Amino acid sequence: MFVVVGVSGGIAAYKTVQVVRALVTNGHEVHVVPTEDALRFVGTATWEAISRHPVTTSVHDDVAEVRHVALGTQADLVIVAPATANTLAKMAAGISDNLLGVTILATTAPVVVAPAMHTAMWDHAATQANIATLRERGVHVVGPADGPLTGGDSGPGRMVEPDEIVAAALAAVDEQTTDAGAPHDRDDLRDLDGLRAVVSAGGTREPIDPVRYLGNRSSGRQGVAVAVAAADRGARAHLVAAHVDDGVLGDAERHPGITIERAGTAAELDTAVRAAASEADVVVMAAAVADFSVPEVSDVKIRKEDGTITLDLVETPDILAGLVERRRPGQTIVGFAAETADSDDELRERGVRKRARKGVDLLTVNRVGWQQGFEATENAALFIDGTDEVVAEASGSKRAVADALWDAVRRLR
Ligand code: C5P
Repeated sequence: MFVVVGVSGGIAAYKTVQVVRALVTNGHEVHVVPTEDALRFVGTATWEAISRHPVTTSVHDDVAEVRHVALGTQADLVIVAPATANTLAKMAAGISDNLLGVTILATTAPVVVAPAMHTAMWDHAATQANIATLRERGVHVVGPADGPLTGGDSGPGRMVEPDEIVAAALAAVDEQTTDAGAPHDRDDLRDLDGLRAVVSAGGTREPIDPVRYLGNRSSGRQGVAVAVAAADRGARAHLVAAHVDDGVLGDAERHPGITIERAGTAAELDTAVRAAASEADVVVMAAAVADFSVPEVSDVKIRKEDGTITLDLVETPDILAGLVERRRPGQTIVGFAAETADSDDELRERGVRKRARKGVDLLTVNRVGWQQGFEATENAALFIDGTDEVVAEASGSKRAVADALWDAVRRLR
C-alpha cells in the first residue's frame, strides 16, 4: 500500500517513528509529511532514513509533478500521528496551508488520526466539536489514551502506542474495501483453493560487462500483487522474481502460500519458469523480460578510452511462446503487454494482435508511459481472451488489478 504518515508538532512524534518503521517493514511504501512544527521534535533526516523516501513540508517542491496533490491522490491510507489540537482544527475546517493539509484534502483514502495533547485541550469544546465533525466525515480516531502526560499531569491526551495506530489504520483500510465491495483483501475468499500457480515478476537485466546491464523500469509490484492475490485466495504460488524494487517482495516473503525463486536474466527466467510450469495449472508471465541481450558479455569493463562501441544484440528466448508450445492439458497461460497508445482503441487493437501472436489464453494489457504503469502503485488494465474480446477491465491498486486477473482466469477455466 501507498501510505502517507502525517506528523504534527507534538512530543509524541518520536513514537511515530515506530509507526513508520512497522509499515515499511511490512512492505508498504510510506511517505512522511511532517508539519514545520513537527520537525522541531523529530527532524527530516530521521523521517527520510526510516521511510526511505525524501521528506518535504512544502507545497512548492516538485511543482511540475503536482506533488502537493499527488501524495493525497496516490494514497491508499493516510495516518496523522500525533494529531495536535491545531492540526485537528485545521482538518475540521479544511485548511490547507501546508503539505499535510493539502494531502488530506486531496485524498479519498481512509484517514486515521491519533490525537495527542494536554487533557485540557482535548476536553475543550472546540476540540470535541472538531473531533465530532471529523468522525462524521468518516475520519477514524484512535485514542487518545488516558495516562501520564509530558508535563507531569495525567488524563486523556496521550497518543496511543504505535502498534495500536498501525492496527487501527489497517483495520480502516479493510473496512473501506469491504464496504466498497472492492476485491482488495480477500482473505475470506478461497476460490483458488488447491490451484498451482506460477507467476513471474520484475524486470530482467542482461549483462553487458561486469558493471553494466540492459534493463527496464519494471518495479515488480504488479507481478508480486498477482502472486499474493492468488495465495490469499487459496492457491499455491511459485513466484519467479527477476529484479524488483526494494521492499516489493515483502508481502510475498511473509506469505506461507508463496515460494520465491530469483532469476536475473531472460535465460535464467526461462529456465526457472519452464521447470515450474511443468507442474502448474496457471502460468502468469508478468515479468518484463528483456527482448534483447548481448551475445558475448565482456569479462572486463568496457572503457571510454576504447572509443565508440557498437553493441550487437540478439533476441532473447520468447518464454511465453515456449510455454504455449509446451502447454500441459488444462493449463491456462496469461501474458502481459505494456503498451504505449494514443487512444483506448489503439490500446485494445495492439492487445488483440499481441494476444493472437502469443497464443495465450488471456492477455493483460496495460498502458505505460513516462508517468504511467511502471513504478506506480496504481494500474489500469484490460483483459483480452481468445475471442479477441475485452472480457474485463480493472483500475486502482495493483492488487485490485491482480484480483480482476484471477477473476478472469476463473471464468476462463
Ligand atoms: O512482446 P512483449 O515483450 O510485449 O510481450 C510481453 C509478454 O511476453 C509478457 O507477458 C512477458 O512476460 C512475455 N515475454 C516473454 N519472453 C520474452 C519477452 C516477453 O515471455 N522474451
